[in-house]
Amino acid sequence: MTDFETQNGFPPMKNDLILRAARGETTERAPVWVMRQAGRYLPEFRKLKEENNADFFKMVQTPELACELTLQPIRRFPLDAAIIFSDILVIPQALGMTVQMIPGKGPVFPDPIREPSDIEKLKQEVDLQKSLGYVFRAITLTRVKLEGKVPLIGFSGAPWTLLCYMIEGESSKTFNKARKFLHQHLEVSSQLLQRMTDLIIDYLVLQVRAGAQMLQVFESHAEVIGYDTFTLCSLPYLRQIVEKVKEKLGSDAVPMTIFAKGAHYAIKELSQTGYDVVSLDWTMSAKDARIVAPTVTLQGNLDPAGLYGSHEDIRYAVKNMLRKFGTQRYIANLGHGMHPDHDPEKLATFIDTIHSYSETMNER
Ligand code: CP3
Repeated sequence: MTDFETQNGFPPMKNDLILRAARGETTERAPVWVMRQAGRYLPEFRKLKEENNADFFKMVQTPELACELTLQPIRRFPLDAAIIFSDILVIPQALGMTVQMIPGKGPVFPDPIREPSDIEKLKQEVDLQKSLGYVFRAITLTRVKLEGKVPLIGFSGAPWTLLCYMIEGESSKTFNKARKFLHQHLEVSSQLLQRMTDLIIDYLVLQVRAGAQMLQVFESHAEVIGYDTFTLCSLPYLRQIVEKVKEKLGSDAVPMTIFAKGAHYAIKELSQTGYDVVSLDWTMSAKDARIVAPTVTLQGNLDPAGLYGSHEDIRYAVKNMLRKFGTQRYIANLGHGMHPDHDPEKLATFIDTIHSYSETMNER
């Protein structure tokens, strides 16, 4: 059965460009989507949030709202993928931790892990269908409502990044508390990282069973650890995730992307873990990545701040980016997410230029 026939009762696909790019197949132009394509920079997002008087996690936990928010950018822009509206912090919530999203500040854990004994407070048994059923329902609903227009991406935070928040209790530039805990309690940290890994594997498998057609794993805080700590506390778990998810799904396996922000020091290692796509942040060189990671599809990586430039600046930057990556084995994206004060019209220029210029490059 091909992707263009009905899949498990879902509508047939009209655009599978991103899936083909991820699998290393030929594409007629570069597919494009952007991290945080749903969000506060869109007036329709702010309106829906206000109308429903909904805080962030209420929107995430209400499948109809999560579905609508996922579809908003797809209606506005010619994107090649949707990403389910959710958050990486739903896993700590499933483990019994309280997480609040404070506007202007970000996530806050009122009762973070500070001592090894705090880990005993986490739920020993997690029934993912029960605790995160709303994510799976949102995925199934969205897959139906997308009507095969573009593939739907599911995602999870990686173990180290989730541990960062669970210990630090809030966003941080350095995650000093998390790194201190790691170095003082390496054994306990390893056990916790393994527990998170097992949970993430099941969570991702269930997202695919619910209808997700591609998966992205976010290791957003690889930048606060160096090569040695990364190879000890991140890489082995990232490898287990891709291996076990693909093993469990067998012939239903979907392409998987790893985005390890700041892990410029480990692009080669990341490309050898089994992920189909390695996503680059904007500090990384496309040319160097092609050399050290020749076997994978690359995703990225315009500096999100580039979208503050003029329309002409954006067209210039996109062409430059496309010339460096080429149009094959490539998924165009930003190097990180959209900012709340970005102008949607600038994103439209980013996307349109990727369409037109990558088509022109292919004709040559
Ligand atoms: O459109 C999409 O990309 C899908 C939705 C999505 C969100 N968060 C929605 C969101 C995805 C894929 C995420 C992942 C996520 N969440 C990551 C990994 C990606 C990255 O940014 O590195 C991380 C680290 C988180 C944790 C998180 N959630 C933080 C640190 C914050 C606060 C920062 C901010 O942008 O305000 C959030 C909040 C969040 N997640 C918002 C959205 C739309 C803003 C919520 C609001 O205030 O309305």
